[in-house]
Amino acid sequence: MSRKTVKTQPIAGQKPGTSGLRKKTRIFMEPGYLENYVQAIFDGIGGVEGKVLVVGGDGRYFNDTAIETILRIAEANGAARCIVGQGGLLSTPAASHLIRKRGADGGLILSASHNPGGPDEDFGLKYNGPNGGPAPEGVTDEIFARTQDIAAYHIFDGGAVALEQIGTSQLGEMEVEIVDPVADYAELMAGLFDFEAISALFKGGFRACFDAMHAITGPYARDILETRLGAPAGTVINGVPKPDFGGGHPDPNPVWAKPLMDRMYGEDAPDFGAASDGDGDRNMIVGANCYVSPSDSLAVLADLAHLAPGYANGLTGVARSMPTSAAADRVAEAKGMACFETPTGWKFFGNLLDAGRVTLCGEESAGTGSNHVREKDGLWAVLLWLNILAATGKSVSQLMADHWARYGRNYYSRHDYEAVETESANVLMNSLRERLSTLPGMEVAGLTVTEADEFSYHDPVDGSVAKGQGLRIFFEGGGRVVFRLSGTGTEGATLRVYLERLETSPNALHQDPQEALAPIIEAADALAGISQRTGRSKPDVIT
Ligand code: G1P
Ligand code: ZN
Repeated sequence: MSRKTVKTQPIAGQKPGTSGLRKKTRIFMEPGYLENYVQAIFDGIGGVEGKVLVVGGDGRYFNDTAIETILRIAEANGAARCIVGQGGLLSTPAASHLIRKRGADGGLILSASHNPGGPDEDFGLKYNGPNGGPAPEGVTDEIFARTQDIAAYHIFDGGAVALEQIGTSQLGEMEVEIVDPVADYAELMAGLFDFEAISALFKGGFRACFDAMHAITGPYARDILETRLGAPAGTVINGVPKPDFGGGHPDPNPVWAKPLMDRMYGEDAPDFGAASDGDGDRNMIVGANCYVSPSDSLAVLADLAHLAPGYANGLTGVARSMPTSAAADRVAEAKGMACFETPTGWKFFGNLLDAGRVTLCGEESAGTGSNHVREKDGLWAVLLWLNILAATGKSVSQLMADHWARYGRNYYSRHDYEAVETESANVLMNSLRERLSTLPGMEVAGLTVTEADEFSYHDPVDGSVAKGQGLRIFFEGGGRVVFRLSGTGTEGATLRVYLERLETSPNALHQDPQEALAPIIEAADALAGISQRTGRSKPDVIT
């Protein structure tokens, strides 16, 4: 037995953001930093004595070393068992599922999601609770409070940890169970979707391309799409997870998944393209010559999910984050379904899902999911799309054209200004916040402001209130711009500008979104002085 108690002290800046703590990898690698934070998590959740925890990550640089440290700290804090994905790998949705399936007390997920990985890039750690979802704010507040007065961490420094060997072994007095990271998740998917219909689609010559972006979904997609559903070998590209994601940004959007976009817009494009991010919770959907925005994807899925066996009884409701377009609301309204608008971040969907108030959730940032787990789920979204394509026999572009003809089109785009000087970003937000009440009635760049406010959310389930969740300005005719500072950036501030305009006229449904949104884009700059305050003439990333 060699448990040690190591004296430590509070380290500044360990405040978890929208999805856990994200920092540069080198910060996490500083002596005692990770140890300190893991101990703060364990203390913040009331200790782990006798508890069962799921542990796994997206395989980025430092993943395995960090897992070993976490297991050693869990042992020294009296945890009964840790269930770990083989090789330290678990996609975020698979981890969520494993927590639920095994009735674990919670889990630690190691990932910085779509941020690049490597010694000079990003790392992250998130605690998920027994429902499988990200810890609610009350819990992350406790964890943060603990980082501010922590004095010691406990660690077991004997024994060896073998992450590759499936089966159960001992680390000190704690059991370590290494499991196949894919099997349970694949089984869950097989229960939700019509695998026969999707297999038949592939047999009939339907061609797909899934870009795993050298990240965690490679092994999951190969097993499910190629092995179980019979998609031709090579359907999954970039399918081997790499510690640095091949040097790229594992973020499934038209900017970072450009090679896939080029293929989908090129000659002889496959029928269906999709990509997922570093930890497997995001998705991008694109048909031949037809990119589907995440907001539209949520709306289409809300409309047609009942075509998949797991949702055959219909949906109880749908929730979207506030900056996500209102396309899903229009479907919910038409179907008489409940519809909720929550702050950015998946954790806000947890209560609604647990209470059975909604079945489907989505965010504009390429996140879609349902009550099957408590995280967004990239491959799940891909499979639901495939199921719908198989059931309707339509192409992606036909489905979109039908959707817009029926519900109208919410033109949508997000403009990101990255690594802006924190001070300038705060000045921009504060100055706009102060002027909000004076905006209604004002004409900006030819558009009349109808309403302006700062979004706050009253959770209908637990009554909690989340304030300061983004500045919203609405225009006559169904336009909107939202300003928000990112909670996941690791360098300076990232200003997100969310732009939306509703179009119902049939002959204007197929414009380029940036063109369709031009007046809103102009109004946004006029309202907030973006170019003047950030010194940028255009956004760094447009999605
Ligand atoms: C971003 C997305 C948000 C998502 C989060 C975690 O957060 O905008 O929708 O939930 O990543 O994937 P942000 O950087 O905007 O705070
Ligand atoms: Zn992610």
